[in-house]
Amino acid sequence: MCGIVGYIGERSASDVLIKGLKRLEYRGYDSAGVAVMNGKMLCSKGKGKVSNLEKTLKKNKIEGFLGIGHTRWATHGEPNDVNSHPHLSESGKIAVVHNGIIENYTTLKKNLIERGRTFQSQTDTEVIAQLIEEIYTTSADITFDRAIRLALKQIVGTYGLAILNSETPDRIFIARKGSPLLLGIGDNEMFVASDASPIVEYTNKVVYLDDGEMAIVTQDSYRVKTIDDFPLTKEVHELAMSLDAIEKAGYPHFMLKEIFEQPRSVADCMRGRLNHEEGTILLGGIEDVMDHLVKARRIVIAACGTSWHSALVGEYLFEQLAKTPVEVEYASEFRYRDPLIGEGDVLLVISQSGETADTLAALREAKKRGALVLGICNVVGSTISRETDAGVFTHAGPEIGVASTKAFTAQVVVLIMMALELGERKGILGQKEMKRYLTELMRIPSKIEYILEHSDEAIQKMAGLFTYAPNFLYLGRSFNFPVALEGALKLKEISYIHAEGYPAAEMKHGPIALIDEMMPVVVIAATDHTNDKMISNIQEVKARKGRIISIMNDDNPEVKELSEFHISIPSTIDCFSPLLTVIPLQLLSYYIAVNRGCNVDQPRNLAKSVTVE
Ligand code: UD1
Ligand code: GLU
Ligand code: MG
Repeated sequence: MCGIVGYIGERSASDVLIKGLKRLEYRGYDSAGVAVMNGKMLCSKGKGKVSNLEKTLKKNKIEGFLGIGHTRWATHGEPNDVNSHPHLSESGKIAVVHNGIIENYTTLKKNLIERGRTFQSQTDTEVIAQLIEEIYTTSADITFDRAIRLALKQIVGTYGLAILNSETPDRIFIARKGSPLLLGIGDNEMFVASDASPIVEYTNKVVYLDDGEMAIVTQDSYRVKTIDDFPLTKEVHELAMSLDAIEKAGYPHFMLKEIFEQPRSVADCMRGRLNHEEGTILLGGIEDVMDHLVKARRIVIAACGTSWHSALVGEYLFEQLAKTPVEVEYASEFRYRDPLIGEGDVLLVISQSGETADTLAALREAKKRGALVLGICNVVGSTISRETDAGVFTHAGPEIGVASTKAFTAQVVVLIMMALELGERKGILGQKEMKRYLTELMRIPSKIEYILEHSDEAIQKMAGLFTYAPNFLYLGRSFNFPVALEGALKLKEISYIHAEGYPAAEMKHGPIALIDEMMPVVVIAATDHTNDKMISNIQEVKARKGRIISIMNDDNPEVKELSEFHISIPSTIDCFSPLLTVIPLQLLSYYIAVNRGCNVDQPRNLAKSVTVE
């Protein structure tokens, strides 16, 4: 799930690659490297961030107009200098950067060693460079392009690849199976990247490669074909992403910028889709499959991480508003247990990047079994959005911070719109109710704005007091149970504090044993219909001297009285509550992580879009 970038043109390749890798760093930052061709293959790489590589390159310049670069999220072999990409073939003439996993690399490596090849690294990737060279040098009259294709035939696994060969010094070879790759067409220059972020500042014309495809890219041309050598004509897409949206805009971290962007991203997600005066919703992306959804016996939602939490909110929404039974699955589990899904069923997958490998695999499995597959994705043009039968884009804008924030709220908004629309079509919600829901939904962006304005300071102070707490417990009920899980996940991933989320009433079946005067317990007490029960749960925590931090509605004197700290938020309809309650939790984890000196945008061991299984 690394980042790949490639350049060929009239600019300094190293400059374009370094800049591109910085934009891609959210995808992995175990190591970084570039290979540039200048008569011969020049390579510079090492453990750590792109900024390390940049320093090295300042001292030892690599000049050239053609090159490839990589930022790694290690799967095979520890993150060190040798295992960094690019990987070179034994002669040093071939350089490869790779995103994905070569599953049969041990067998291939063993064969290549038997043929006398020496390996430098522990990675699966090095096998690709060596295998291509082995085929290229031992077959008579073979083109380099054919050697790549023959090698790919032997490889089992997933890859996004960019390859250089010093014997063909005017071109970059790329290939894709299971990992995203696109081509940017400039004016007398070409770009290659694993997503659009490194190339938006140069061009908005892109070609997305599909699985099983490769391309040969020169400064002023590109040729796409299948890895069986059938030529293809690909559509050139226009990118809508702006450079502004992927820069920090004055915020110290992307995560904070993205938290504060939520009034706008939530509004963008609803834009053009709601008519509160008429009480109608238009989701163009699923209009054609609405009849199918109305008839569906059940909906299965598969996702990972934060998207799995929004899926859980979705379960409450669809079951309450549309009376359609829902099951939520971890995409990774769904795929490997012979799932009972087929014709008449609907699988809905949720993924910010639209590239999440486990989610993609779940989608393909369900599709194979005849289910209708729908997607909720943020990235337009992503693999999942292209492979689903239909879906809805969240239109939240690029999310760069590794800890997801605005993607979560946008996903929940899409789920709300889908559930309301389905409820209306099924005759469960009348026009009057629809108007009431939509009128309130339109108010959500300004309510988020209010929370950001009024509680940011209080949360910063509170974060100061709990910075060194070793554990946290998050409790919620009903629609806010998934928010408790999400709050705990946010804290874990960026501050490395152990945290757990629980349905509040479940606490007495185990976790209550953990509570003592050291334990901060974040209680999400903003769901009206469970308020009384929540108050009892708070009492149970207090009786064990736990420290209560509550997220509560403005007018809740009882909860306020019981809490050591409270954050008041505007009230809303219960089923919209996650859109508001999650905001203070995002801020709390952000400020705690900053206080602890953690790298908020790039937490250790994580990467943004998990494109390996
Ligand atoms: C679309 C346009 C939007 C335009 C609007 C005007 C895009 C991306 N969206 O929005 O700019 O203002 O029409 O009518 O061009 N899809 C999937 N799987 C997914 C997500 C989406 O298959 O996971 C498909 C949808 O089925 C649809 C297309 O992608 O065919 C665009 O989806 P979406 O942006 O949600 O559709 P609209 O809201 O109609
Ligand atoms: N499997 C390769 C490695 O561990 C590539 C990982 C990645 O996608 O960054 O080096
Ligand atoms: Mg259910």
